[in-house]
Amino acid sequence: MALLRTENVTKAFGALTAVNGVSLEVEAGSLHSIIGPNGAGKTTLFNLFTGQLTPTSGRIVFDGRDITGTPSHRVAHLGIARSFQRTNVFPALSLLDNVWIAAFARRGSWRGFAWRRADRYPEVTERALAALRDVGLQDRANQLAREISHGEQRQLELAIALAAAPRLLLLDEPAAGLSPDETQRMVALVRGLKGRYTIVLIEHKMDIIMGVSDRVSVMHFGSLIAEGTPAEIQRNADVQRAYLGGVVVE
Ligand SMILES: Nc1ncnc2c1ncn2[C@@H]1O[C@H](COP(=O)(O)OP(=O)(O)OP(=O)(O)O)[C@@H](O)[C@H]1O
Ligand SMILES: [Mg+2]
Repeated sequence: MALLRTENVTKAFGALTAVNGVSLEVEAGSLHSIIGPNGAGKTTLFNLFTGQLTPTSGRIVFDGRDITGTPSHRVAHLGIARSFQRTNVFPALSLLDNVWIAAFARRGSWRGFAWRRADRYPEVTERALAALRDVGLQDRANQLAREISHGEQRQLELAIALAAAPRLLLLDEPAAGLSPDETQRMVALVRGLKGRYTIVLIEHKMDIIMGVSDRVSVMHFGSLIAEGTPAEIQRNADVQRAYLGGVVVE
């Protein structure tokens, strides 16, 4: 069954059609990658999934429910969490606090947050620590986010998404800007999450895509030009042309 489905989704910014008639199905429990050259519309598609943007036309259905135009805080409560292409953590907070906030927000209400002590919510703290454990940062829980390396900050971002106990995890280039070693570590983490979550992964690095994906969809100038298994995508002539069209692929 498809956990997420888009029907002919289009997003125009003035004269630019960033996403053009995209119909996509993400199977529950799968890791579905979206690839495509710079500016293909991948991040815009995520912004449409999460309610940060509203489609110009078309429908987005999550778990059988039409979420088109639903504001992002409501989408988050329905169980869609994301990590961003650019690292997005609170640098002056500890790792645990960064993750704790996401775990707390998942409860659905901020009532009492200002006056109740954080340790009154052991279940929230437990979920936050579990998320740090999932990304291998449990030993750094009390360090400030600005004190850890860039690679660890990206792991922290993943933990923040996991702390929300998502049903659908959207990862936008989680290995962007990472060294080869850090990239290997991130790939191992994502592989470890496979099967536990339904994941949509945007990634430029082909070796990552080929190694972890169940399905791959290819975007080019806003449209889907191919979909298939990693092996099918690798030998698809349209995909090869899109990537050879003078666009730099890392
Ligand atoms: N808020 C916006 N307003 C106007 N144009 C936008 C906006 N967001 C994205 N675009 C444009 O839409 C197109 C698709 O951008 P998007 O960020 O979705 O591409 P992408 O596939 O994620 O690219 P990259 O691989 O470089 O991250 C680009 O031409 C971009 O400039
Ligand atoms: Mg992008």
